[in-house]
Amino acid sequence: MEKLINGLSVFLSGNYKSKPIIFVHGFPFDRLMWNAQVEEFSMNYFCVTFDIRGLGESSVEDGQFTMEGFVDDLEFLIDELKLNKPILCGLSMGGYISLRAIERFQNKFSGLILCDTKSEADDNQGKLKRAAAIKQINSGDFENFVETFVQNCFGERFVKENNSEYRMVVDRSKKNNPLGVKGCLLAMAGRTDTTESLSGINLPALIICGSEDKLSPPNVMKPMSEKISNSKFVLIEGAGHMTPIENPQEVISAIKEFLTQNDL
Ligand code: MLT
Repeated sequence: MEKLINGLSVFLSGNYKSKPIIFVHGFPFDRLMWNAQVEEFSMNYFCVTFDIRGLGESSVEDGQFTMEGFVDDLEFLIDELKLNKPILCGLSMGGYISLRAIERFQNKFSGLILCDTKSEADDNQGKLKRAAAIKQINSGDFENFVETFVQNCFGERFVKENNSEYRMVVDRSKKNNPLGVKGCLLAMAGRTDTTESLSGINLPALIICGSEDKLSPPNVMKPMSEKISNSKFVLIEGAGHMTPIENPQEVISAIKEFLTQNDL
């Protein structure tokens, strides 16, 4: 069932009485990146996906976004849908939102799944890259920005072997409103660093990383996992940054095992 809540395009799947899982997508994608996982887990869980403000079908408004605002949106959804202790699952920018949400209100959740993300804020080089991206979009080169950015997200093997699926993701990403995309770039550039709070996470956590992820590689994600006391690190061999799309089955298996082991 699709719903518009507070300007966000939200998709609900599964039995409302089941344990909720909220999936938060990465940049510059939309909630459809979780299709395989939603299809699988809606059999036994209440799955909530939504388009982050500025992306997909969600509203763009003035395009002035902050990470705090994205976390406010997430909290609003949890309260509005009366979700009881959902499991939170975020990829990359969705992970930044999840980590900050955990920092602000971890007692609202029962478990945490982080895919291909990091706790560090952008360093100077990262901020300059965001600025260059905004400049490129302002110069009218939005489609090339998306093309190059998305290509960097996927592992080479997936692009070669699943080219039509890859092209669909690129083309969908190009349909985003450039203003919304720039707003997300600014929100990511201005986000806080959540590394210090990792040791304070007292939820069971699953950390998933593609072995070929260039944006949040294993040598960044493994140490992050080690800082969370009850966490498990799973490496998806051969996948890049987009593990849930590149190897949906392994991601599903890892999540299933995590949920079972932690009685979630
Ligand atoms: C994402 O996949 O959400 C982005 O790669 C995150 C980023 O650019 O930092």
